[in-house]
Amino acid sequence: SLPVPSVQDIVRTDPICVPERYIRNSVDRPTCAKTCSLLSEIPVIDFSLLSEGHDGEQRKLDLACKEWGFFQIVHHGITENTLHRIRNAMVGFFDLPIEEKNKYAMAANDLQGYGQAYVVSKEQKLDWNDIMFLMTLPTEERKLSYWPTEVHDFKEAVEIYSEEVHRVAVELLSHLSLLMNMNQDGLLRLHDGIKIGMRMNYYPPCCRPDEVLGVSPHSDGGSITILLQDDDIVGLQIKHKGDWLPVKPIPQALVVNIGDAIEAWSNGAYKSIEHRAVTNEAKSRMSLAAFVVPNENVEIGPLDQMIDDAHRPKMYRTTKYLDYIRHTLGRKMEGKEHMHFLKLDHK
Ligand code: SIN
Ligand code: FE2
Repeated sequence: SLPVPSVQDIVRTDPICVPERYIRNSVDRPTCAKTCSLLSEIPVIDFSLLSEGHDGEQRKLDLACKEWGFFQIVHHGITENTLHRIRNAMVGFFDLPIEEKNKYAMAANDLQGYGQAYVVSKEQKLDWNDIMFLMTLPTEERKLSYWPTEVHDFKEAVEIYSEEVHRVAVELLSHLSLLMNMNQDGLLRLHDGIKIGMRMNYYPPCCRPDEVLGVSPHSDGGSITILLQDDDIVGLQIKHKGDWLPVKPIPQALVVNIGDAIEAWSNGAYKSIEHRAVTNEAKSRMSLAAFVVPNENVEIGPLDQMIDDAHRPKMYRTTKYLDYIRHTLGRKMEGKEHMHFLKLDHK
């Protein structure tokens, strides 16, 4: 990623100046598309019922992945204390003076650290957010030089939350495996060693919220993403039936979405949905996206049992996950554009 200024610092220096690089072209502005906030909400899955093997909840999960690609989970078993600690750790980091945060700045050829992701040219429009990205599991992937030692409880809070997210992810993958006609450990085996990366997002308030985006439209490349968002500030929007639908936070719930790898494995049955984040004028917002990703060496592509020549012909070619990630990294985020790399053409 090319180095760009911290948005938090831009706002601190001059809260009413929004540099041109952040002002979107009119078609991309958040006000352009109609939103359907009153019409519908993403499904809510009771994780404890799912764990008990409840049939109805299992079917709800299947439908959520097919028709929405997004759902919220409640009763996931992550304690309020654990959520409180990880949120505090994020606040602690982003509240540090800019000179302190810059000690953890992303190195030129790195993905981890403090900065902005997917900045590939001087011309592209920038997102109204700052991020801190850390690989947290397996432990060998950690680059501890990026973990801010001066933030109280940061390391422990991230470690504990990562373990919890790992537990939830493994369980979700086991249910998805059954739904995709595999043994319970099918998807876990396909991952050949799950990895978890944490993206901490900080969206400062913006005096021109209708003209900027917190995060550009994109889909997530991995298998699933587990998002902890602010309990009362709305920001995440998903593309649903052509409209941008805001995801209303449910206190203590987690938002889960299907990523490109599962869309490919499921041959398009489960959807990796385009989403974005918007900002607001009054308050800063934080969120924490935990990306669950497979080992770089595995292949992503339609599983045999998900292909049906008559009704669901093979939609994607089989590609090494590393090649897919390399493809996405050289580009800016642009809706579902990246997935064309995997698509097969059908006459
Ligand atoms: C993302 O998952 O792409 C960011 C979402 C958010 O901040 O709500
Ligand atoms: Fe995302």
